[in-house]
Amino acid sequence: MHPKTLKFKPCIFDLDGVIVDTAKYHYLAWKKLANQLGFEFTKEQNELFKGVSRKRCLEILLDIGKVEATPEQFDRWMMEKNEDYLSYIEDMDASEILPDVVKTLDYLKDENVPLALGSASKNAKPILEKVKLLPYFNAIVDGTDVAKAKPDPEVFLIAAQKMGARPENCIVFEDAVAGIEAANNAGMTSIGIGDAKTLSEANHVFKDFTEISTEFLEGLIQ
Ligand code: BG6
Ligand code: MG
Repeated sequence: MHPKTLKFKPCIFDLDGVIVDTAKYHYLAWKKLANQLGFEFTKEQNELFKGVSRKRCLEILLDIGKVEATPEQFDRWMMEKNEDYLSYIEDMDASEILPDVVKTLDYLKDENVPLALGSASKNAKPILEKVKLLPYFNAIVDGTDVAKAKPDPEVFLIAAQKMGARPENCIVFEDAVAGIEAANNAGMTSIGIGDAKTLSEANHVFKDFTEISTEFLEGLIQ
């Protein structure tokens, strides 16, 4: 699709930490693996894993524990971590959607704003299905579509292309430092969801969607 002039600027949403709080489940699964390998993994260390691909997370985890892995062990541990993660999110439902996310998506949908998901997760589609948000999105780009992880802009550039939009017209909602960097690297407007100090590179930062007013959204998409 060729870039065209759209009435409103398209919005791209990260999944983990923006739409649903899955970080706690990723943490439990990584912690279980770390403990199995004989070391501790703290919640503070888990912060480093936000927005980071599964493979890179395991590399960082093994660095923390000073554990060497053969390629076979590496693949097995990635698989085991994911199986544990999937068991934690098995019963996930719409009650786990973060506050005012649906209100925001409904407002944008009513205005006919093109919406995309731009996530590093290979589990993005099943999660969106579980929380019943799949129908909101015109395009989904996830960890199965990209070769380069955030802060590389690839995931967001593919999302823009799928919506037929110019990158500079897109708006990205992100909770991870790597994700804000990816949005900035793509030349998009970055909206940080979380701590203002941590996400200081973002164009705007809000603690969560309850802090984003309709007036702000209205101005943003023009
Ligand atoms: C990101 C999360 O969205 O997806 C990371 O913030 C996670 O913590 C990454 O490692 C990959 O997720 P998955 O589901 O493919 O293991
Ligand atoms: Mg995230």
